[in-house]
Amino acid sequence: MTKKILVLGSGAREHSIIRAIERSSKPNKIFCIASNMNPGIANLCDEFIIDDFNNTEIVTNYATKKNITLAIIGPENPLQKGVADALWNEKIKVVGPKKELAQIETSKAFTRNLLKKHKISGGPKYKTFDSMVGVLGFLEDLGDNYVVKFDGLAGGKGVKVSGDHLASHKDALAYCEELIHKNHEFVIEEKFIGQEFSLMSFCDGENLKHMPAVQDHKRVFDNDQGPNTGGMGTYSDADHSLPFLRKEEIQKAQYINQETANALKKEFGYGFKGVLYGGFMATKDGVKLIEYNARFGDPEAMNVLSILKTDFLDICDGITQGTLDQIDVQFKNKATVCKYAVPEGYPDKPIKGEKIDLSKVEDQDSLFYASVDVIDGALVEAGSRTVAVVGVDETIEKAEKLAQREISKIKGPLFYRKDIGTSKLIQKKINHMDSLR
Ligand code: AMP
Ligand code: GLY
Repeated sequence: MTKKILVLGSGAREHSIIRAIERSSKPNKIFCIASNMNPGIANLCDEFIIDDFNNTEIVTNYATKKNITLAIIGPENPLQKGVADALWNEKIKVVGPKKELAQIETSKAFTRNLLKKHKISGGPKYKTFDSMVGVLGFLEDLGDNYVVKFDGLAGGKGVKVSGDHLASHKDALAYCEELIHKNHEFVIEEKFIGQEFSLMSFCDGENLKHMPAVQDHKRVFDNDQGPNTGGMGTYSDADHSLPFLRKEEIQKAQYINQETANALKKEFGYGFKGVLYGGFMATKDGVKLIEYNARFGDPEAMNVLSILKTDFLDICDGITQGTLDQIDVQFKNKATVCKYAVPEGYPDKPIKGEKIDLSKVEDQDSLFYASVDVIDGALVEAGSRTVAVVGVDETIEKAEKLAQREISKIKGPLFYRKDIGTSKLIQKKINHMDSLR
């Protein structure tokens, strides 16, 4: 039977998800609800519409009209709005957790409290606040290493870290005041020092199948300078680890993901079905949890799905049916490097509407279209991360050269980080970890 699959979202992450569906041996038709015209995705779909995928009614009406059998939710906002719940109510299977479980991403306080309650290791010292009472005392407890986090979705912009965004307790107090003024709750926690990595696991509610570890680069400029972004690029090694990580550190992160999935099931009586994405930090005291996301990472999805060997639709069925333990999930032993080209002025004042030309890129399959639009027949930048390029090869060094070769052929007022995946930057990360251990 032909599967009718609905994908929500229209960034590079969703482009990579749809490419993975395309490679499936199972007959399928792909439908997409998008926020912008993404021709890379539209060309692969049986139907591509632009509408509000955060609106449960719009999504369920469309899905029932098209007899969709499986929905895959790319971004976090529809998860927060309960789109997965609404689709399951219509008997449509969903890769992406229900609203209550998506709190693992949508509420920092929920996640910290869940891990504490279920005695899962890796958490920082932390406290949650809805007023200024006790804030100064707790900052004094933490000393110089503290982080203030707005307790909700903020596209990576709600977190302020000491030494980075906050120079003193005075700065931290001012940010807390600002949050209280807006009626926002927040978490203050201990700052970890080390190297960050992403460890994503497919999860059917009970069983987990882990993906390769990936490292993202949040800062906009080379050498990790400038403001934070959604992620400028990522890499992963051929052994599915990262050059600065020890085997036991990956195992620890996998274990924390499994324990967290178990805790969610215990807490709500039903399990998390989707991608459980742990943001970890390797520190001198072991692996620590920075945050959870309830979806594929972007750009991490491009790294892992580019080397996925197993039929992606078998994995999706495993997730929705609770039979993931029977699926042999395998990835090629290849290194991957992904780099994003972004508009000039990104992230604070990105230009928009300028034409870009991708025709000189030799390997079109290495391109993943993201925040683009088509105006008068021309491909233009839509203001956020524009297009991602992925290099896949035997080593990170070779994969980086491929990604660099292709991204340099993109024409238009864009820029990208030249250092991601280079031996020089990787050595710096290894040295940093060595200095901590
Ligand atoms: P989050 O939205 O929680 O991922 O935070 C965004 C970024 O802030 C992370 O990618 C980290 O770089 C940083 N961050 C968050 N929490 C901590 C922490 N406890 N220690 C150090 N850095 C952190
Ligand atoms: N790579 C960061 C994110 O997907 O949130």
